[in-house]
Amino acid sequence: MCGIVGVLGHHEVAPLLVEALKRLEYRGYDSAGIATVNQGQLDRRRAVGKLVNLSDLLVHQPLAGKAGIGHTRWATHGGPELRNAHPHRAGPVAVVHNGIIENFRALREELAADGYAQESETDTETVALLAKREMDRGAAPVEAARLTLKRLHGAFALCFLFDGEEDLMVAARKGSPLAVGWGEGEMFIGSDAIALAPMTDRITYLEEGDWVTVTRAGAQIFDAQDQPVARPETRVQLDATRIEKGGYKHFMAKEIAEQPLVIADALRHYTGGGQSLRLPEELDFASIDRVTLVACGTGSYACHVAKYWFEQIAGLPAEIDIASEFRYRDPVLSPASMAVFVSQSGETADTLAALRYATGKVAQVVSVVNVPTSSIAREADLALPILAGVEVGVASTKAFTCQLTVLALMALKAGLDRGRLTPEAVAKQLAVLGTLPGLMSATLGLSDAVAQVATDLAKAQDILFLGRGTMFPLAMEGALKLKEISYIHAEGYASGELKHGPIALIDAQVPVIVLAPKDGLFEKTVSNMQEVMARNGKVLLLSDAAGIAEAGAGTWKTLTLPQVDPLWAPILYALPAQLLAYHTAIAKGTDVDQPRNLAKSVTVE
Ligand code: F6R
Repeated sequence: MCGIVGVLGHHEVAPLLVEALKRLEYRGYDSAGIATVNQGQLDRRRAVGKLVNLSDLLVHQPLAGKAGIGHTRWATHGGPELRNAHPHRAGPVAVVHNGIIENFRALREELAADGYAQESETDTETVALLAKREMDRGAAPVEAARLTLKRLHGAFALCFLFDGEEDLMVAARKGSPLAVGWGEGEMFIGSDAIALAPMTDRITYLEEGDWVTVTRAGAQIFDAQDQPVARPETRVQLDATRIEKGGYKHFMAKEIAEQPLVIADALRHYTGGGQSLRLPEELDFASIDRVTLVACGTGSYACHVAKYWFEQIAGLPAEIDIASEFRYRDPVLSPASMAVFVSQSGETADTLAALRYATGKVAQVVSVVNVPTSSIAREADLALPILAGVEVGVASTKAFTCQLTVLALMALKAGLDRGRLTPEAVAKQLAVLGTLPGLMSATLGLSDAVAQVATDLAKAQDILFLGRGTMFPLAMEGALKLKEISYIHAEGYASGELKHGPIALIDAQVPVIVLAPKDGLFEKTVSNMQEVMARNGKVLLLSDAAGIAEAGAGTWKTLTLPQVDPLWAPILYALPAQLLAYHTAIAKGTDVDQPRNLAKSVTVE
């Protein structure tokens, strides 16, 4: 993970670097730092913890200079301590890094034997020392960086700054994304276009193995064989103002509240106002024999729901896998199949590696992504944007429901392409989906009631979520959301699995949250709920009015959702699951938007 930024500007860069790091903090917040060159002198400031600590430090110890690099860290090698904070410096070289240098131990020993001892535990300082050694041997800065890059194995994005060089940065990309930004007599480097959004919308993405020398006059890109290459410049439309809380206390609260709007946007985009599907024609399910859906975390639960949809709606066999397992288990892929990779950030290392594994082995590689300029979007045969807008809260909310919405539309197209649905039947389902934004708005009205329940949930040590059918992945998503932001241990189970083990956990201290819209499986879920209640378990039942009327008696608490077509219920039931996590975290006083140990974009495996 980690975010990196570099600026060769006209003005003082420290404030620009800090602003850019603010937009990159979703990549990690264990420490932050900047380095600048001022009147030929390389210097740096670093602070442990969130960016605000670096900002405070800069008030007391400002750093002048019009050339600089910056970093926000998610710790991999070495704990979140000052000595491990970036930029790392070795004599005339400062380096910021995102990724992992896999051979750093061997390199570190080699350097130590040569008298280049390391102060930190990081793999990044090794890079700085390698470059310093090259310079000690007489190499000029660019050559020192080039020779250093040749020694590195692993996945990285790097940016070098040099003492005495106020008009030079060298950057490189292998495995981790990196963008070059073009200004008027100013140049930029960033982990993504969002970091650079207020400074420039002219972006060139480096490709695998590329490295680049940057001066205020422009950039010269080289490929892995050191041959000069031209990479296209794109205009990236990002509304930097959307990365504001807009009156909400937390980004997560804002992003939960935005869901009716963004779902309506996504539906409008892919249905042209409601009656017919407007998914790209090349997305063709007619001739494929199966679909394989791969993602990590919340995205994988969206895939899990989609498996039910593809199989039920289109009779299309669907397999699901988490990317970190998929990429290493030699999965057998049918050449006539479609592989779908779902990712909010579009940069998740495991999902990207899984996509690359599938490329060439299947008929079509499709990505369902939120960041349209991301690696996963660019490397797929076909990318379907989910149109959730920028998601800042580390816990994914609106991206999940937008992923579900796009996957739902894909399943309908599969039904149509495979002759399981008529255009009229599709139009009918689109009309039902069109009611979701309204139902979501009504569901958001439960927020106060959820907040009340959450004051009790916050006292629990363990919480179970139960559901059947598409509510099973929703139970897992509810548990993930709760544990990541409230730090309460939570698990999601298929209701039918309860008596195969987890029921042993039930006692009066363990709240059991049952997700049960009144669908064809309702009676069965209620039976499992009764089994919990018979063992003094305290059940919080989430259902619609009919479900609560039928099964609410004897439960600990209930939350009544609007009635929704059972097929699309997961899109609606995601909201109370998110609200439960949010309000429980508030009741516990944890950091909602930046929970401990996590980062928004997981660019290391
Ligand atoms: C949970 C969460 C994570 C992400 C996962 C994949 O709230 O946000 O589990 O879903 O890290 O990230 P993307 O979707 O960016 O590939």
